[in-house]
Amino acid sequence: MGTAEITAEQGAYAERAAALALKLYQKTPKACVITFGCQQNVSDSERLKGMLTKCGYTITEDMNEAQFIIFNTCAVREHAEDRVYGNIGTTKALKKANPDIIVAVCGCMAQRQSVADKIKQSYPYVDMVFGTQVQYRLPEFIYKRLSGGKRIFDLTLDNGEIIEDQPIKRDGTFKGWLPIMYGCDNFCTYCIVPYVRGRERSRELQKILAEAKEMIAAGYKDITLLGQNVNSYGKGTDCGINFATLLRQIDALEGDFRIRFMTSHPKDCTKELIDTIRDCEKVSSHLHLPFQSGSDRILKRMNRHYDRKKYLELVNYAKEQIPDLSLTSDIIVGFPGETYEDFKETLSLVKEVEFSSLFTFIYSPREGTPAAVMEDPVSREEKGRWFTELLKAQEEIAERNIQKHIGKTYRVLCDSVGSKDGFMSGHNSGTAVIEFEGDKGLLGKFVTVKVNSYDGVLLGTVE
Ligand code: 5AD
Ligand code: SF4
Repeated sequence: MGTAEITAEQGAYAERAAALALKLYQKTPKACVITFGCQQNVSDSERLKGMLTKCGYTITEDMNEAQFIIFNTCAVREHAEDRVYGNIGTTKALKKANPDIIVAVCGCMAQRQSVADKIKQSYPYVDMVFGTQVQYRLPEFIYKRLSGGKRIFDLTLDNGEIIEDQPIKRDGTFKGWLPIMYGCDNFCTYCIVPYVRGRERSRELQKILAEAKEMIAAGYKDITLLGQNVNSYGKGTDCGINFATLLRQIDALEGDFRIRFMTSHPKDCTKELIDTIRDCEKVSSHLHLPFQSGSDRILKRMNRHYDRKKYLELVNYAKEQIPDLSLTSDIIVGFPGETYEDFKETLSLVKEVEFSSLFTFIYSPREGTPAAVMEDPVSREEKGRWFTELLKAQEEIAERNIQKHIGKTYRVLCDSVGSKDGFMSGHNSGTAVIEFEGDKGLLGKFVTVKVNSYDGVLLGTVE
C-alpha cells in the first residue's frame, strides 16, 4: 500500500470509529492528550489531536471528563519516565468508575519493549500502547478497541516511508511547529532517541513547502522547523537539497513570518548554514547548537564527532556573521567517567561563548545505550554540585548578556500578556523577551520595539 492509500484507509477507520464512539457514549466524546518531553512530541500530539478530531472527539484539557486519554511520552531521561508512570496510575480510578474509557500510551517511552511489557503486566487498565512510527494508525486502533478487540501493543519500528497528509489540530494560532525530519542516526552514546525514533527520515521538500504555505495562509507568524538533527536534512534521499537550501526555499515563500529551527548538531553545522541564516531575512537570529561537553575526551566518549576547537570556530563565525545572534545550547553534566577537570572544560567553554541561555541536564543512564554500561564512579551529590556551579556561572552571564539589549530596536512578535497590567510581551528574532505597553489586540502581530531598560524583564516602547 502506498502512503496515500494508508492515509485514506485511516480516514475510513476514523469515520467508522466516530460512529461507534457516538453510539457507545451517547454523546460527542472527549479526548485528552497529555504530552511529555520535547517539541517533537508537542508536534506529534498536534497530529494525534487531528486524528482524534476526525474520530469524532472534541479535545479537552481535563482528563476527568475525557472518554479517551492518551499519554504521549518521553524517554530521554529517567525523571520523565517516572512522571509518566505516576500519571498513568491516576487513570486507574477513572477507568474503574467508567470502564468504557480508553487509555493509551504512545511516544518514545512506549516504544521501549521493557516499558510496553511492564504496562501489559502491571497496568491492565491501559488499552493500547504504540510506538513512534505507527502513531498514524490511531484511528484504526480506536476503531478496533471500540469494536471489542483486545488490548493493542504495536511497537513496529520499520523505518518505512513517512505517512503524509495526516490531519493536524495545532495548539497555537500564530506560533507553530513544522517537522521536517524524523529519527536520528547519530547514536550519541548517552541518548535513547535513535532507538525509540528509529532511523533518520526526511520529509519530501514539496510536503514541507505545502505545509509551510498552509501555515502562512492560516496566519502563522513564527514557524519552527523540527527534527532531531535538522541540519542533516536531505541526507540519504535523492532530493538533492540540504538544510540550508530548504531554509532558503521557505524564506522565499511569500508572507510576513519568521522561521526558527531546532535542533542542530555541531558536526553538521556548516558555514553555508550560518551564511544562510545571515542572508535570509525571515530566518531568525537564533542558533540552538548543543555542545554537551567542553572536554574533548568526553566528547569522544559521547560519540559526538567534533571537538572543542571546531565548536568554538563555528560559534565564533556565527557571532561574527549574524548580528544580535542568540546562541543557546544543551549540556550534560556528569557523563560516565567525567572528572571535575573535564567539567571545568565545560564551564570554561560556557564562560567563553556567553550563551543567551542553556538547557542543562545531569546525566541520566538510559538502558540499552552504550553509556549506560560505562563506569560511572562520581556520586549524584558531586554531580549536583558541579551542576549548581554551572547554573551559577550561566546566571551571571545571562544577566550580563541581557543588558546588551538596552538601547536596541527589534522587531518583536507579540505572543503573550506581560507581567504588569497594560503590558504585552513578545520575542525578538532571537530569544530575548521584551515587554511593552499594549493590549491583547497585538497578539500575533509584529511590533517594532525600542528596549529602554531591564528590571527583571526587558522593557521597551513601541515605535
Ligand atoms: N541524560 C541526560 N541528558 C540527556 N540528553 C539526552 N540524553 C540524555 C541523558 N541520557 C539531553 C541532551 C540533549 C537534550 C535534548 O537532552 O543534552 O541535547
Ligand atoms: Fe540523541 Fe545525539 Fe540524536 Fe540528539 S543527535 S537525538 S543527542 S543521538
